[in-house]
Amino acid sequence: MTTLLLHLADFNESNWARRFATALPGHRVVLRGDAYDPAEIDYIFVWKPKADAFEGLINLKAVLSLGAGVDALLRHPALPAGVPIVRFVDADLTQRMSDYVVANVTMHQRLFTRFKRDQQARRWVQLYPAASWESAVGIMGMGVLGLDAVKHLRVFGTQLRSWSRSPKAIKGVEGFAGDAQFDAFLGGTDILVNLLPLTPETEGILNYETFRKLRRGRLDGGPVVINAARGGHQKDADLVRALTDGTLGAASLDVFEIEPLPQESPLWTLDNCYVTPHIAAASSETTGVAYFSKVILEHEAGKPLPHVVNVARGY
Ligand code: NDP
Ligand code: OXD
Repeated sequence: MTTLLLHLADFNESNWARRFATALPGHRVVLRGDAYDPAEIDYIFVWKPKADAFEGLINLKAVLSLGAGVDALLRHPALPAGVPIVRFVDADLTQRMSDYVVANVTMHQRLFTRFKRDQQARRWVQLYPAASWESAVGIMGMGVLGLDAVKHLRVFGTQLRSWSRSPKAIKGVEGFAGDAQFDAFLGGTDILVNLLPLTPETEGILNYETFRKLRRGRLDGGPVVINAARGGHQKDADLVRALTDGTLGAASLDVFEIEPLPQESPLWTLDNCYVTPHIAAASSETTGVAYFSKVILEHEAGKPLPHVVNVARGY
């Protein structure tokens, strides 16, 4: 009998366990507190694994990651070597991320920060925002989420640019790749959207130098940064500086160097900073159970695992 162990910090594990038990009849689903022999665990389904998460799991067939991003998992000092990691790739999560990106891009194109300030000052000034085709959105990361964001933004006629590790040819998108083309990518970008995985190469990429290289003059107030990937990509202090000195006109941030965002962070109170608490794209219980049950059942039937993380590459 196949055994699945659930290890979901900050989630209601019992709900997930009940749903998995229904979706996987004839299989065993156990929680961290249950009595079980670790050697009998075939699959572990994880989110934010604790230090002892993998202790004694000597017969694991796969690690199943509730997160689409696996940076925390890959940093775990006791992650079993050689065991494949399957990450969550899901239409519902992807749609939610595109919803977040579209909402924030269009909000900044329509100069919401400027008009909110005018409203607070009871100031009636008819400044006309540029049409969406007059500004360029540059997306860092052209994977599952970046490609879907492009699909949704294309509808608005916005100029689109992408930056990825390997070159891409995407219709209607000016593509840039690798470190050599990073500055050129930034230089024509008015709204920078981050959808990269967090790896040693991408850590801290949203820093003051990066902000300084963005194009100025197209968006009233200055260029904008939208980070919906990981807090480790950004330097919070650099964001505060850039949002205060005019290097950036505004920022929408769903993730932070420290989460929850500390009470004393100036990012809470800057009126050109839009803070959300890492909710851009939540993993749903319904689609999560459907996806990972299918993964287990098909793997048990001899099919290859889907969306296996390339550990050497870090995503
Ligand atoms: P993918 O693995 O599908 O795509 C990653 C993209 O980033 C690829 O295009 C890849 O390039 C590019 N990339 C990786 N490293 C580099 C680099 N060093 N330089 C340039 N480009 C690079 O990831 P997803 O689209 O599924 O997810 C992206 C991230 O979004 C996740 O890792 C996660 O951290 C975050 N996320 C955040 C959520 C939230 O609620 N805030 C929810 C879900 C995900 P190439 O195509 O050449 O390989
Ligand atoms: C994820 C996330 O990686 O929610 O899926 O951050």
